[in-house]
Amino acid sequence: MLKRVFAAVFIVTLAYGFAGADDIALAHKKDNAAANAEEIISMRSNLAGEFIRPGAEVTEETFKKVCGAVGKRVKEVEKAEGVVIRHAAVKFRNPVNAATPAEAALIERFEKDGTLKAMDDLDTVDGKKYFRVTRPIRVESACLACHGEKDSRPAFIKDKYPEDRAYGFRKGDLRGIVSVLIPLE
Ligand code: HEC
Repeated sequence: MLKRVFAAVFIVTLAYGFAGADDIALAHKKDNAAANAEEIISMRSNLAGEFIRPGAEVTEETFKKVCGAVGKRVKEVEKAEGVVIRHAAVKFRNPVNAATPAEAALIERFEKDGTLKAMDDLDTVDGKKYFRVTRPIRVESACLACHGEKDSRPAFIKDKYPEDRAYGFRKGDLRGIVSVLIPLE
């Protein structure tokens, strides 16, 4: 009898022990994901600040140094961390980044509350469950060289993105979101 009680206590303790380790691992991944999302946002901001200069011509080469470089970094982080990273916008430029209904709902929350700096939630994408860490992306003056008035967009953008909706922004507007999706299980 006593043996059984001990065995039961042992099993329960073990189970809690594992659950605790899982919780700690997920908490660690969430912290990493938040750091990755913030790094991506500040990287774009810094590059735009560096390469967009008053009077300088803005070409596809400039893009490669700003949002193009960010795209490359995203792929690196995905590989290194085993996460999926999504840029999403209702007013998107690349149709790949068109917000899903769940992403559009997040965007609306950030749109309504300018003081909201972060959102965490769960989502299922292609049948897989994810914990999602999201940060808002705001428009700065340097972004307007390519996301400002429709007619003043650089020629390569007009040519390459016939479905472009990512223009007409003003400084401080919500440009979209970046989400880091941590696979669960
Ligand atoms: C030199 C031009 C240029 C500048 C400057 C620029 N972008 Fe972009 N941006 C683009 C292009 C082109 C794309 C489409 C990239 C692609 O095909 O994946 C894009 C895509 C994006 C996306 C992905 C979502 C979508 O609509 O496809 C976000 C978010 C974004 N830009 C935000 C910004 C922010 C914020 C800034 C300023 C800090 C900025 N961009 C500055 C040209 C630019």
